[in-house]
Amino acid sequence: MKIIKAKDYEDMSRKAANIISAQVILKPDCVLGLATGSTPIGAYKQLVAWYEKGDVDFAEVSTYNLDEYRGLSHDDPQSYHYFMRENFFDHINIDLNNTHVPDGSNPDAAAACSEYDKIVAAAGYPDLQLLGIGNNGHIGFNEPDDHFSKGTHCVDLTESTIQANSRLFDSIDDVPRQAYTMGTQTIMYARMILVVANGEAKAQAVHDMCYGPVTPACPASILQLHTNCVVVADEAALSLCE
Ligand code: PGA
Repeated sequence: MKIIKAKDYEDMSRKAANIISAQVILKPDCVLGLATGSTPIGAYKQLVAWYEKGDVDFAEVSTYNLDEYRGLSHDDPQSYHYFMRENFFDHINIDLNNTHVPDGSNPDAAAACSEYDKIVAAAGYPDLQLLGIGNNGHIGFNEPDDHFSKGTHCVDLTESTIQANSRLFDSIDDVPRQAYTMGTQTIMYARMILVVANGEAKAQAVHDMCYGPVTPACPASILQLHTNCVVVADEAALSLCE
């Protein structure tokens, strides 16, 4: 694992965007694995700004997102389909046909998940997978468990994740209880992994990811076994790693 310390959120976002744009410049038709959540928003903004300046071109890029809430339509403002358009896709020259997010609107979990596994495999898996990390060490919606997950599957969100995500909903009762998520094994197939984290609330999870035992109790800890994983985190998120 390579750990890059950023001063603050803005610095973290710029450094992460630099790594993503380098990937796109080096391989214009690359496959990006993308993430939602508050943490990557700054990196997406920076990439949009560089796109507008003509520095990076997404015309040939294809993307596969990590996860989606089960039961939300693609147009639901709380869905990750909507999030990605709002924060990234609508502001760059990516072909929307080349963007993929698990289909949370399909109530048939087994069908939705196996379909997603097929298209991610057919794409050859991401050249670069962007990840946030949950306060409880989750990646995607792979929550702490007694085993690591494999392919895309339907998960029951933990209370701590429902609590953490409730800030984005009118009330905690509105937070979906289930999601479809790429599995840990699929995440590990990416040729490069870029984890972004900021703020003190992530300090324990970042410590456990980088220096704790490799255990499904902290799903992100498996990234220690990836041969090309870069963590870009601000000082607060790295405060327990000194
Ligand atoms: P956040 O979520 O970026 O909103 O903190 C990260 C995650 O849960 O993966």
